[in-house]
Amino acid sequence: MSTHLIILSETGESFNCLDNETALNALARSGKRGIPIGCRGGGCGVCKVKVLDGDFSKRPMSRDHVSVLEEQNNEVLACCIYPLTDVKVQVLGKMQRAIFKKCDLYGDVQSTSCYTEIGC
Ligand code: FES
Repeated sequence: MSTHLIILSETGESFNCLDNETALNALARSGKRGIPIGCRGGGCGVCKVKVLDGDFSKRPMSRDHVSVLEEQNNEVLACCIYPLTDVKVQVLGKMQRAIFKKCDLYGDVQSTSCYTEIGC
């Protein structure tokens, strides 16, 4: 069984993704905090990413969350793509908010160098 890396473009963090595993499942399995897990079926749109580099296969996803043009630009739902090579992704929308907010001791958003869930 081979694995591929999912690399977050904003941080350079990488996560192993198994053959026949969706990118979202690999991110969730990594234990990284803040990964929004929704329907896992392409219907809720919380896991939107843009694939900047690498190849992947995909299954149908809701047009309510990914337009034809977005899909042509590799903006896809992480629960609907299967990396075929190492992929570099940029998280979008709700996933971006969830992953990259940093809170100081008083709960103010500061930067993207520390990751926590919303509402810390
Ligand atoms: S988890 Fe619902 S669209 Fe991906």
